[in-house]
Amino acid sequence: MTKPSVLVTRRWPAAVEARLAEDYNTVLNTGDTPMSPAEIRDALKHYDAVLPTVTDTLSAEALDVPTAQTKILANYGVGYSHICEPSARELGMTVTNTPDVLSECTADIAMTLLLMVARRAGEGERELRAGNWTGWRPTHLVGTKVSGKTLGIIGYGRIGQEMARRAHHGFGMDVVIYNRSHVAPDVLAKCNATQVDTVDDLLPLCDFVSLHCPGGAANRQLINGQRLDLMKPDAFLINTARGEVIDEHALIQALMFDTIGGAALDVFDGEPRISSDLLQCDNLVMLPHLGSATKEAREAMGFRVIENLNDFFNGKNPRDKVI
Ligand code: DGY
Repeated sequence: MTKPSVLVTRRWPAAVEARLAEDYNTVLNTGDTPMSPAEIRDALKHYDAVLPTVTDTLSAEALDVPTAQTKILANYGVGYSHICEPSARELGMTVTNTPDVLSECTADIAMTLLLMVARRAGEGERELRAGNWTGWRPTHLVGTKVSGKTLGIIGYGRIGQEMARRAHHGFGMDVVIYNRSHVAPDVLAKCNATQVDTVDDLLPLCDFVSLHCPGGAANRQLINGQRLDLMKPDAFLINTARGEVIDEHALIQALMFDTIGGAALDVFDGEPRISSDLLQCDNLVMLPHLGSATKEAREAMGFRVIENLNDFFNGKNPRDKVI
């Protein structure tokens, strides 16, 4: 029997690429460069499955392929706001993602960012590397204590819950959450978390606010200028979700005029392009979208894609079907 043809849009961990090549008629993007919408469109005409990731824009334009051969977009990553849902539905495509296996590592990066911005670790490292450290002194790079403070979590899915676990059980933080749907009392109880009804209710209560909601149109600029104004003047904003969730221009204003304590970002609107104004903000820590970047998580994500493909081509409903 001919193996289904599969196109992988970026380099994946070697162990996963090898398994994929055994099971499928696989074409790898060995150059590891992002594909243009035209290249994606072309791929959709010629492969049974396309395996995209967050750097691919599967917009309505890229999915404008009425004669697509592709029947499944098996996404490498949990977020899929880069895939135009109505177009995928119209084409009758199945879309899968890779939840669970990256939750712990992404929460680790959110906690890393929280600690870095509170304790001014980015500033310290920049100072030291620039050869500007003049030695210990009582007033040098004094930051904010994390233990015992209040953390607000927006989006209480798997990653949000992992973040709460670290903050509450590791750092004795009080946890307040906002989630679109009602969270079961036993889930809240694990971290003694309190659910509030709106984002606006949550923001004024928190010393730290960490974003764990999906991206896409529904949450575009959820954190805008008005909401930044609701934060305490010394509170910190952490984003490991998607860049578009924050109005970046409003955040730059808040950071430049010190209306919040600081921010720490792993994701950016329009990444990898970074606004030059962000680079000027000292009270900001930035990482290049490292949330799931561990050997363990990245391999597990790849194997999860293969499970989804196997299910699909064996006529079963893939466990991670999102569309
Ligand atoms: C995802 O999975 O959506 C991440 O942003 C990539 O780790």
